Amino acid sequence: MCGIIGITGGEETLDVLLEGLARLEYRGYDSAGLAVLPATDGGPLWRARAANGTRSLEDLVKRTEDAPPGSSTGIGHTRWATHGRPSEANAHPHVDCTGQLALVHNGIIENHLELSDELVLAGHHLESDTDTEVLAHLIESELGTHPEAGLVGAVRETLRRVRGYFAIAVIHSGEPDLIVAARRVSPLVMGLTETEAMLASDIPALLGRTRSFLLLEDDQIAELRPGSIRVTTLDGTEVIPPLRTVDYDLDAARKDGYPDYMSKEMHEQPMAVANTLLDRLLPDGTLALDEVRISDDELRSIDKVFIVACGSSYHAGLMAKYAIEHWARLPVEIDISSEFRYRDPVLDSRTLVIGVSQSGETVDTLQALREARRWNAKVLVISNVVDSSMTREADAVLYTRAGPEIGVASTKTHLAQITALEILALYLAQTRGTLYPHEAREFLDAMGALPDKVETALERAADVEVVATAYRASPSFIFLGRHVGYPVALEGALKLKELSYLWAEGFPAGELKHGPIAVVEPGTVVIGVATRTHLWEKMMANVAEVKSRGATVVLVANDGDEETERQADAVLWVPETHQLFSPIVDVVPLQLFAYSMARLHGLDVDRPRNLAKVVTVE
Ligand code: AGP
Repeated sequence: MCGIIGITGGEETLDVLLEGLARLEYRGYDSAGLAVLPATDGGPLWRARAANGTRSLEDLVKRTEDAPPGSSTGIGHTRWATHGRPSEANAHPHVDCTGQLALVHNGIIENHLELSDELVLAGHHLESDTDTEVLAHLIESELGTHPEAGLVGAVRETLRRVRGYFAIAVIHSGEPDLIVAARRVSPLVMGLTETEAMLASDIPALLGRTRSFLLLEDDQIAELRPGSIRVTTLDGTEVIPPLRTVDYDLDAARKDGYPDYMSKEMHEQPMAVANTLLDRLLPDGTLALDEVRISDDELRSIDKVFIVACGSSYHAGLMAKYAIEHWARLPVEIDISSEFRYRDPVLDSRTLVIGVSQSGETVDTLQALREARRWNAKVLVISNVVDSSMTREADAVLYTRAGPEIGVASTKTHLAQITALEILALYLAQTRGTLYPHEAREFLDAMGALPDKVETALERAADVEVVATAYRASPSFIFLGRHVGYPVALEGALKLKELSYLWAEGFPAGELKHGPIAVVEPGTVVIGVATRTHLWEKMMANVAEVKSRGATVVLVANDGDEETERQADAVLWVPETHQLFSPIVDVVPLQLFAYSMARLHGLDVDRPRNLAKVVTVE
């Protein structure tokens, strides 16, 4: 889940690399580095690396005066550490023994230990603790044995020996206009202009430079030269990937006057929900999905649904389970992607597997979906990123239209995912005849009120901050919910953990008495989702259980609900909505709570420690 970038043919190579790396920082910020080639053949390449991410790298590059003038080819990397601690020595690019070759890598080389033993025996000197460095030395070795095959031939032979995932970019001072790139599972896109060719882990890193992109598929190798890109498979067969034009707006990825991306993105939530709902209802009463390659007959024959996802996307899936089972009367199993893939799940062609992923690149979910396809299951993907790896491989896609999300914590995409999943639940119900079209339409119409309710919940940010301030000294928090309030509690706990580094755990409220209640003591802060659902009375009984053991209770409650207020030490108010839609509104104050708590602790909400926005390692 690192970010990689490269360009050849440009005039301000260092600036392009630094700007692209800053945009890729959401993928990891443990360290950063770049390498550029001299303008003439055979000269030494120039490398700069910094242990503290792209800002320190930029300072370093600005302070240094020995960067080669006129360089038009370079590669860069921003790291999320897997093998080897964050340090300058472990920062990419890694070089070979000659110092002529530099390489950046996103992914994991699973057989790096055996490869590195072999290289050391052959006399190579490896300097880092990373899994990546072996690649530079293996390519060096191939170049020594078969110089006539050139850099691309050496990369091809090296990749045949590698197990694991990779997106790589390699340069060599013997071929100063060339970048060789390759991919297996980890994402890699390429951009083209008349005079330049470039690559990156995602499209926004290159926007502003080009709008013409090519996507590299698994086990393909690309040779990028100024103004041209040639793609071949690992066995050398040439392929012509289609050139795609994107119309994203780069401005959408800027902060727009907010202090950080997270607050900007939270305030974009009403729009994200509204856009995801937009035009879903066709004049004939059916629902419009994007890229549906599953027929209605096939959907009618589905007898089981699996939802696979990670993190916040998993919580959105958990919320959808209730809606799909209730409306479409289909059994739904939900699993964390990394567990699903290795547990031999029972699937066949009548199973619908729904992958939920903001990025569409999370490797655990991508591989889980590939496993599902192996069993001939139908695969439907909910994603925010058009043309991401998952959406390209799916039988059907339903896009969340939240716009780019830069903050590491999912907010607007999470709400858009729940919205999209609820739409899907209604579509399944209608197609399978468990809801009449007019009933599905009534529910969709009711969803039309959600953006305003989310807006109202956001307007209470100052009140939420007061509550967060009152409990800022608490070292731990317990989150409780029932039914759809349970995944809301899980999401509230995840947000608080990842942003404020405080211990927080979510539980089904009814489960507490089976063990976890033992940790409740006077002063324990318990945050409960106590909005009005058919289980409100049972939820309040669970609240009474923790109160009677001295807990301090903060409740998410519907506006004007005095009965709930009387049971609480503090209230986070939200507008009331239909029970199955309530997560979309009820999660908002918990996002705001986590945001306020992190700020009160002086933490960087956009770049929480140890995390990355897109997780492309297992
Ligand atoms: C939550 O705030 C995190 N960003 C994380 O849990 C995230 O939801 C998870 O890594 C899944 O990512 P995806 O939706 O891109 O697959």
